[in-house]
Parts: sequence; structure tokens; C-alpha cells
Amino acid sequence: MSVDTTVRPGVKAREIIARDTTTMSGSMVPRYPFVIERGLGARVWDVDGNEYIDFAAGIATNSTGHCHPDVVRAIQEQAAKFVHIAGTDYYYEVQVRLAERLAQIAPFSEAARVFLCNSGAEAVEAAIKMARWYTDRHNIIAFFGAFHGRTMGALSLTASKVVQRDGFFPLVPGVHHVPYNNPYRCLHGREQAACEANCICTSYIEDVLFKKVVPAESVAAIILEPIQGEGGYVVPDARFVQQLRAICDHYGILLIVDEVQSGIGRTGKWWAIQHFGVEPDIVCSAKGIASGMPLGAIIAREHVMSWPPGAHGTTFGGNPISCAAALVTLDLIERGYMQNAADQGEYIMETLEEMRTHHPALKHGRIDGRGLMVGAELVLDEAHTPAKELRNRVERIALENGLLILGAGESTLRFCPALMIERETVDAGLRIFDETLRQAEQEAGLL
Ligand SMILES: Cc1ncc(COP(=O)(O)O)c(C=O)c1O
Repeated sequence: MSVDTTVRPGVKAREIIARDTTTMSGSMVPRYPFVIERGLGARVWDVDGNEYIDFAAGIATNSTGHCHPDVVRAIQEQAAKFVHIAGTDYYYEVQVRLAERLAQIAPFSEAARVFLCNSGAEAVEAAIKMARWYTDRHNIIAFFGAFHGRTMGALSLTASKVVQRDGFFPLVPGVHHVPYNNPYRCLHGREQAACEANCICTSYIEDVLFKKVVPAESVAAIILEPIQGEGGYVVPDARFVQQLRAICDHYGILLIVDEVQSGIGRTGKWWAIQHFGVEPDIVCSAKGIASGMPLGAIIAREHVMSWPPGAHGTTFGGNPISCAAALVTLDLIERGYMQNAADQGEYIMETLEEMRTHHPALKHGRIDGRGLMVGAELVLDEAHTPAKELRNRVERIALENGLLILGAGESTLRFCPALMIERETVDAGLRIFDETLRQAEQEAGLL
């Protein structure tokens, strides 16, 4: 299967981009010169009629693909009944059904309660507030490389790129960042083998942070992306995650997992944390939960989500159309797309491994992931020097060649298509990627 190619971006796209540039907030650049007209499954078309394979899925959000007929029908049917009533004041069944469903798939054995909101950042805000309220403590531990969102509380936990924080200080006090397990780039400066054998990230929390910076008894929560997303699709060692749980248990700290990007079946399990044999206390969800309709959620152990009436609320959160879309999304994922994510993701990883032989930028690179959350970190040499420019060029050339693919971290490319993607489309996208990387490497003088 091929992809139609004409000039990208075309005349109509360029005209819309020019108008956007004069009116929209400049904070959202740099963006890619792609202007969507429509989408279907894991393919999209621009306003000039060009076709693309979509390995980006709206930043890992179009979980069931573009315009899945069941999702479209659920949205239309709900829109024809009522669009909004404010769940803070009145009740509606579609919201209850969704909460029940999310409670059923919560990654802990205890009964769960659910709070619905509109986005990932809002879910993180709710989790911070809940942790502070429940523990009556105010410090929070987050990780370098983490991305938790852009609102002030979530931004305070984010430590992915300084441009996201610069100009907004002072942020919410009480946040302490510590290194995340990543033997490929150990932040403690240790060799990969030593780090793999014995990661010191968790002992750093106990031996340094708790002894020199903040008492353990003042820490409300540790917030963890079970697989770092914007930070570069980094999969930590299971022991690291298990040790974090042990620290939480020992000092009465809550473990919050931010599954905004990694959750809802993307990694081949409902939640990425389930790959590590650890049960969290609070889960943050958004992105793929409603196939692209705005919805966020926190799912917490029942005894933790015990805050009183009025402690937290939202006008739009748990919007009925988003809830209807989410219910269908969860069914589709359970009935096959979660397994498909595991299968296609494994295939993508294998194919990328094979590509190491003919791509210098992959030869010493990091290829890692779970399910359809796969990252390929491009590097220039054995010392793992990030191939940042090359990665940026790959994103651009891929677009010209008919593939939407996003970066993450300093020099990683992420493969996070819709969970429904067919093998045929995966193959077509990987062929474009292979050719695109060859072009970029040639341009950079690596080939
Ligand atoms: C792990 C994680 N948490 C939170 C967010 C913020 O989500 P939103 O953009 O919906 O506010 C993101 C967004 O990329 C994310 O990847």
C-alpha cells in the first residue's frame, strides 16, 4: 500500500498556516506544516488532498483511530440527547457508567473511586490536591524528564524542558525532582552496566533527599510516569518502580502514576504500571481515554478519595459526550485493540532492531517500549551523543514523505499510532520511516 504524494504542504495548507501564524498564540510553535482535512483509522488527509500515515495519533490520543464508526455514533447519539448539565450539580447515567467501568479496570485490588475532568493536566492537578488533602503533607517528589502538563501545579512537577518553565516562576512550592531510572543515560553519571546492575535512584531519595532536604514524613506523594513520555519514551527497570512502592509504603507516602500517555491499553495492558507488578494509590488518565474527545480522570483507592463535598469540582469535567465516547473506546480496546497494540508494538520494535544494521543513527541508539509506546533514540556515536538535529530533520522529511511522526526527549522519535493500526499500515509507515531516516542521514553526511 502506498501513500499519495503531491507537494506538502500544498497551497491551501500554506494559506491556513499563514493565517494561523498571525492570530494564534505563538507559544505553540514550532509545529509541523500539516493541516488536516479528515482522518480514518491510522490515516489522515490534508486540505490539499495528500494522504499520510499517522504514527502520532494526536500525541497518543486517537486510541481507536480517526473517526471509528462506533465512537462517531456514540458521540452523535449523546449530542442529540443533551450536551451538558454540569456533573457538579446534577446526575447523569453515562457519567456513572464510565466511573463504574474505570473503577473496574483500576490497577489495584482495593475498591476505587473516580473523579472526571477534562485533560491530563487537570487530572494531575486533582491528584496533587487529593494527595495533599489525604496526607495533610505538602511535599511532592517528581522526576527529572517528567512531563505532567502546563497548568501551574502540573507544571511544577514537569521537568522535561526548561522552556516550559522559564518565565513562570515561582511555581507551586514543595516539589522536589530526583533522577529517573535510565541506565542508557544515567543522571548520576554511572556506567550503563553499573546502573543496570544496581540503580541508585531510589537510595538517592532515602539517603540524600530525606536526610538533607525534606523529612520523609512531610512528603505527600511520589508522582511517576511508569514509562516517561515527553521525556523520551524511557522504560524504567521494574526494580526501580518496586523500590518506589516500598519507599511509599515505609513512609506513608502515596504513589501517583501519571498514565495520561501510557494508559488505556496503549502498552498492551490497561495501565503501564501493570508491567512492573506494582499497585499505585492514584492513577491519572486522559489522552486515549475517549478517542480524542476531551476527558481526564483520576482513579484512586476508595479510602484515599475520601475528600468532603466541595473540596474539588469542575463545570465541564465528565462531559456526557466525552463519557459516551470513552465507554465505546474502552469496549473497543478491551475487545481487541489492546492485544493489537501489544502485537504491533512488538513488530515495530523488531523491525527497528533490524534497521540498526543499515542506519548509523540507530546503531548505538536506544530502542525501547511496551505495546504501541515505542521510542527510538537517535545518537551519533557509541558515546550516545544525541542526534538532535537529525531527529528534527526526520520529523520534517517524514512529513514530506507522507508520515506523521513525533519527537520526544532530546533525540527520540516516538511510534505511538492508534491502537487499531493494521499490520499493512504499520509496514507502510515503517517503509517511509526507513527511507526518511536514510535521506536525513545522507544529508547529515552519516551515510
Ligand atoms: C504523562 C503526561 N501527563 C500529563 C500531560 C498533560 O496532558 P494535557 O495536555 O491533556 O493537559 C501529558 C501531555 O502530554 C502527558 O504526556
